[in-house]
This record gives sequence, C-alpha cells and structure tokens, in this order.
Amino acid sequence: MDQAEQLRNIIKKQSPQRKLARVITVTSGKGGVGKSNISVNLAIQMSRLGKRVIILDADFGLANVEVMLGIRPRYSLADLMFRGKELKDIITKGPENIGFISGGSGIHELTNISKSQILFLTQKLYELDQLADVIIIDTGAGITDSVLEFVTASSEVLLVVTPEPTSITDAYALLKTLNRKGDFVPDSTVIKMISNRVESYEEAKQLFTKLNLVVEKFLTVKMQFLGAIPQDANVTKAVMQQKPYSTLYPNAPSSKAIFELANILCNNATPKVNTVNGIAGLFSNLIRLKFKK
Ligand SMILES: Nc1ncnc2c1ncn2[C@@H]1O[C@H](COP(=O)(O)OP(=O)(O)OP(=O)(O)O)[C@@H](O)[C@H]1O
Ligand SMILES: [Mg+2]
Repeated sequence: MDQAEQLRNIIKKQSPQRKLARVITVTSGKGGVGKSNISVNLAIQMSRLGKRVIILDADFGLANVEVMLGIRPRYSLADLMFRGKELKDIITKGPENIGFISGGSGIHELTNISKSQILFLTQKLYELDQLADVIIIDTGAGITDSVLEFVTASSEVLLVVTPEPTSITDAYALLKTLNRKGDFVPDSTVIKMISNRVESYEEAKQLFTKLNLVVEKFLTVKMQFLGAIPQDANVTKAVMQQKPYSTLYPNAPSSKAIFELANILCNNATPKVNTVNGIAGLFSNLIRLKFKK
C-alpha cells in the first residue's frame, strides 16, 4: 500500500457519515493586500451566521492572525506535531467564538517531515474537521513554495487583489506559476477573487474583468468574481487596536462588505470538486504532492 492510499484509508476509516469542514484558503500574489484582515473578519462574520470557524495561520514567519487579534497563543501546530500536545490545546479562543491555530514553525517544518509524522498529523487534523464547520487558512505573503502548495492542495481559494498595478500583476504571476505547476489541477480548485480597497463596486468588477481577460487568454486556471471590500479607514484603525473591524465597527463599510461576502459563501455550498475532504484531506494532498517529487 503506498502512502497516498494509507492516507485515504485513514480518512475513510473515520466514520464516513460525519461532515468534514469546508476549507477556504486565502491568498494573494502581492503581500500586504489584506489577506489576514479578510481571514479574521470573514471568520467573525461566518461565526455570526452560526458556523463554527477556526483560522489556521499558515504565515509561519509573521504570525499575522495573533497580532491582529492581540492574543498570544500558548501553543502552535508544532506543539501538536512534535511536543505531544492535543488538538484542543493548540486551538486558541478568539473573539466571537472563533478559534485560531498558530502555524508556528510547524508549517515551516512540514518541509522536512517524515512519513510517520504525516500520518500522525493527518489523523490529528481529522479531529479538527469535526470541531469546525469552516477552516480558513491565512497564507503568507508572496509566491513562495509553501503558498503554492497550500493553494494546489485546496479546493476553494480566495484570491485577494487591490487596484494597485503591482497587486494585479502579482496575482497574475501567482496564477501563471500555478498553471505551470504540473500537479495543479484547475478543475479541483475553485479560485474566487476578492477586490479589496476599492472605491466602488464598479471598480471591483473592472479589476476582475481586467485580470480575467488575461487569465482566460493565456491560462487554463479558472477564476470567479466573489465580491468587493471598500477602502475604509476603519480597517487600519482596527489593526492599530489589535481588534477585528467587524467587532469594533460593525456598521463600517468594510464590515458590511465582509458580511455580504460571508453570506454569499455560506449560501453557496462547498465547490463541486471531489479531491479534497476537509482539512485532513487538504494536508494529505499537500504531503502527497510533496512526496511525489
Ligand atoms: N479595505 C481596506 N481599507 C483600508 N485599508 C486596508 C484594507 N484592507 C487592508 N488594509 C490595510 O492594509 C494593511 C495590510 O493588511 P493585511 O495585514 O490584512 O494584509 P496581508 O495581505 O495579510 O499582508 P501580508 O502579506 O504581510 O500577510 C492593513 O494593516 C491595513 O492598514
Ligand atoms: Mg497577513
């Protein structure tokens, strides 16, 4: 039995009737375009819609989510993997019933992980699938191997773009790199674009049209338009206070926009792709891709 088969068996064995979490990966070409703010506030708005949401901070270097929430987690994914902690110990409670897991060096160490550790991790993460309805993965900045691997292994990706020309060209560069990646299967990953920091909905749509034109012309990757978040000074104000804007300023334009996005996502069931099953499925995918090389 090869390793991929072993992983599939683990996932199958764990009571197939139980629902697995929906995994949403938030990414961008250029850094600093609003991924962590979107991850955190989307989590809050989905929690308000009755979902159990956990954020996985896959930005191991900068620990964005914990800085944004002003909470220092005691443990990270590395403690689960290497120091005998249980899954419940590494989930930190955030505002409005959201939970988050700090990637710590755990995500980084995935690069050098052994096969038995992978099986262990996949089993542990299967428990996470039962604790959450939605898992939001906040990826790091830039087109790094780790970001590309997360996106390739995900079935639902939110691509954040701002009107800045470099944000658009970098988003295209990310899609182009994915497109070239032998193991990226366009039909298995739905890419939904969010236009952030726009002045109007028209500007947001135009941004999508502009990017999509070149994507359709040169790539096999498919992209959809999810929606817009306006440029809003409350975002920076909230970041300074280390509290999510959805909590501090629930009526701010950014909060209303993200609530709208959460609504669209919640009413729009998990994408019709069958390669990834929950977070355990995503991680087994991730590792399978890694070991193929
Ligand atoms: N809608 C918005 N309106 C105004 N400012 C915004 C908006 N979204 C993001 N910003 C600003 O951009 C900054 C960066 O946002 P954020 O940290 O969420 O980006 P990121 O993509 O996660 O960055 P990194 O790539 O470094 O992880 C915020 O601190 C805030 O000042
Ligand atoms: Mg970030």
